Order: sequence, then C-alpha cells, then structure tokens
Amino acid sequence: MGKKIFSGVQPTGNLHLGNYLGAIKNFVDLSNENDTECIFCVVDLHAITVNQDPKEFRNNIRETVATFIASGIDPKKNIIFNQSQVSAHSEAAWILGCIARMGWLNRMTQFKEKAGKDKEKASIGLYSYPVLMAADILLYDATHVPVGDDQKQHLELCRDIAQKFNNDFKVENFFVTPEPLIQKEFSRIMSLKDGTKKMSKSEISDLSRINLSDTQDQIINKIKKAKTDPLPMPINVKDLDKRPEAKNLLGIYSSLKKINLEKSVKEFSGKNFSEFKENLAQVLVDKIFPLSLEIKKLLDDKVYLDQILVEGAQKANDKASKKIKEIHKIIGF
Ligand code: TYM
Repeated sequence: MGKKIFSGVQPTGNLHLGNYLGAIKNFVDLSNENDTECIFCVVDLHAITVNQDPKEFRNNIRETVATFIASGIDPKKNIIFNQSQVSAHSEAAWILGCIARMGWLNRMTQFKEKAGKDKEKASIGLYSYPVLMAADILLYDATHVPVGDDQKQHLELCRDIAQKFNNDFKVENFFVTPEPLIQKEFSRIMSLKDGTKKMSKSEISDLSRINLSDTQDQIINKIKKAKTDPLPMPINVKDLDKRPEAKNLLGIYSSLKKINLEKSVKEFSGKNFSEFKENLAQVLVDKIFPLSLEIKKLLDDKVYLDQILVEGAQKANDKASKKIKEIHKIIGF
C-alpha cells in the first residue's frame, strides 16, 4: 500500500520562507511520488483561534491555495480543500477532545508560547487546537504528515489520541498512527533578526522574514539587513553551533540550492558575510520571486481558486464522512 499524506497550512496571510522550506516544498516533492495520495488542507478553523478580519480572511484562504498551486501542487492530482467546508473536522475534534487528556494538552509548548503570560485570555480554541489537528489527520487515515519541526509535539499528541481511542474502544488499528515527516536538516527556519527565534508570521517586524509575496527589492533589502556576527564566514560546520544567525542563513542557502550544509560552508569558508549575502539574495530572488509572481497571477482568477476548493471539499467530504460514520458506530451513537 502506498503512502497517504495529509498536511495543513493556516490561511493567516504572509506565508513565508519557513512555511515554504519547512513544509510546502516537501508537499510538492511528495505529490510527485508514485503511489502516494496527498491531501492538503487550508486550515481555516485553526486560523480563527485568533481574531481574523472576515474580508482579509477570505483572501488569505485563496492566497494559500494559490501558493500551493504556484509551488507546484497539481490540484487535479491532489486534494486541496478548506477545513471549514468539511464538517467532519469539527465533529471529530469534539469526539477526540473527549479522548485527549488535559495533562497531555497542558504540555503543549506552542500553546504556552502563543498564549503568552495571560493564559486566562487565550481562546479555548487555541488550547484545544492540537485536538482539531489530530482530527484532520485521523479522518483520512494519513500514514505520513509532512510538517516543520515546530509541529512535532502536536503530531506526538495525535498519535497518543489515536492509540487511546483504539485501546478504549478495543478497535485495534482503527485510527492509523501517522508518522511525522520532518526533514533532517532545515526543518526550522529562524528569524532574520534573531537566529534563536523561529521565523513566524506573528513576529511584528517584517524584516524578520521573507514573505512569499515579497518583491525582488524587498528580498535583497531584508538579506542585506539580516543579523550576522562580526566574524568572517565559518570554516567548518562545527563552528556554527555558537553562531545561530550564520547557521540559519547558510541553512536557507543550502535548502534552496538542495545541497548540504558542509558544501555551503566550504563554498564561503573564511569569506566576508557581504559576499555570501549577495549570493543568498540572488538564490532567493531566483527561487522565491517567480513564486510570488505566479501567486499574484493566480489570485486574479478567484473563480478558478474557489472552484478548486469546491471540488476539493467534495472529495475530502466523501472520505471524511465515511470515517465519521464508522466512528459513530464504534462509540454507539
Ligand atoms: P502553520 O500554518 O503554522 O505552518 C504551516 C507549516 O509550515 C511549517 N513552518 C515552518 N517550518 C520551518 N521553519 C519555520 N520557521 C516554520 N514556520 C512554519 C509548520 O511546521 C507547518 O508544517 N497546526 C499547523 C497546521 C495544521 C496541520 C494539520 C499540519 C492543522 N492541521 C494537520 C499537519 C497536519 C500549523 O499551524 O501550521
């Protein structure tokens, strides 16, 4: 049996290089494999765990679809849909919320980071968010889930929920326990302003990230201003352990060039950062700027993008509603 892939991206605008290198680029590679079925979800229900402006939100949903397609995911061969249009996701999230334990959710580091100091003011949705994520994955019997490093803990929780459900109801292997697909290298792209912080859309400074919608000039400017250290470029990979910014920039370069870190270190060994930065900006402009042009072009055809979502939702709904019926039977509804 081939692989069944499921993954999701939040439509919160400003998709960035971290989303692309950590996740979307891998979606494309997987979607080109033989004997692999892929489902890519625009997780709009996850996005409303924080406030969204309805008008912008609708555009951000389309922009996420456009990004998938511009990156190389073929909507005819793969299912692309938005979560809110398949009601089984919300329903399964409730049911699995009765399986997951408070203690498990209390350990989720992303909630702690996102809720900040004032946890009392965070939405319940933000807290139970990983349960919805488990519902997404388990409804489709996904065997593999490609994600960036930051989603690892959520996937472990998903596996725990699947196993507890199977044990509680004595239905061995009913839910498939999915394997995370996290790249060995470059699975966590860091901020351009602080090599110890994840590149993120919620970071206030736009200079901290390369957005997939950035112009050539913006890309060049952001790389010029990216934080570095006063030393010349490292001579070997080990030197990078204490140099997070250099490590991140070389990682981005390596990932885009599809080479390993050793090779990039060798290429710029002992040189000035300015020379490396010129090369890095050029690679980014070559790889990311065409993507941004294609996204803009696709966004001009809203009817096409909406049609993809309608067709995707139908296909996803066929699968998810079957699984929900089986869940009902198991529970005794
Ligand atoms: P989201 O929307 O925050 O991010 C989408 C994907 O991008 C990856 N990513 C990164 N990878 C490397 N470096 C970074 N700086 C970086 N920032 C983001 C994320 O790991 C993710 O793979 N909860 C998920 C969405 C989701 C999902 C799912 C994923 C909902 N249901 C089911 C897989 C399966 C999220 O918020 O991703």
